[in-house]
Amino acid sequence: MIPDFLSYTRIPRLDIMPENNALSSDKPGLLCNEFIASSLPAGQITLVHVGDERVAVYNADGAFYATEERCPHTGWPLSDGGELSGTQVTCPMHGWCFDVTSGAVIRGIKGLCLKQYRVQLDGDIGRVIPLDS
Ligand code: FES
Repeated sequence: MIPDFLSYTRIPRLDIMPENNALSSDKPGLLCNEFIASSLPAGQITLVHVGDERVAVYNADGAFYATEERCPHTGWPLSDGGELSGTQVTCPMHGWCFDVTSGAVIRGIKGLCLKQYRVQLDGDIGRVIPLDS
């Protein structure tokens, strides 16, 4: 007899899965680059992994965006205390601010922007992939 927890198996879509991605250890049934859209309320930020890169995912008033998680100032992880207001995220460490739709800096040193990622929705599952995928 197969235990219930083994009867549900997700088959990764290899055509869009970044190299080195794996099943998430803290989100059962999801890949490391996936999240449950309905579990990320507007104004909230969560962390996923694309390969070995840490990526912050934002719910900006119902639209999902993703950027590198590391603040380009001194590296604070934006999913840890970053404040999302509309489409702007403010780093809690020194107050730099970024537009999550483009990665552009709003407050901080011009030219230091956040790397962007693409967010795809497949029903309630959000999937983050590199922009060039
Ligand atoms: S580390 Fe983000 S503003 Fe300084």
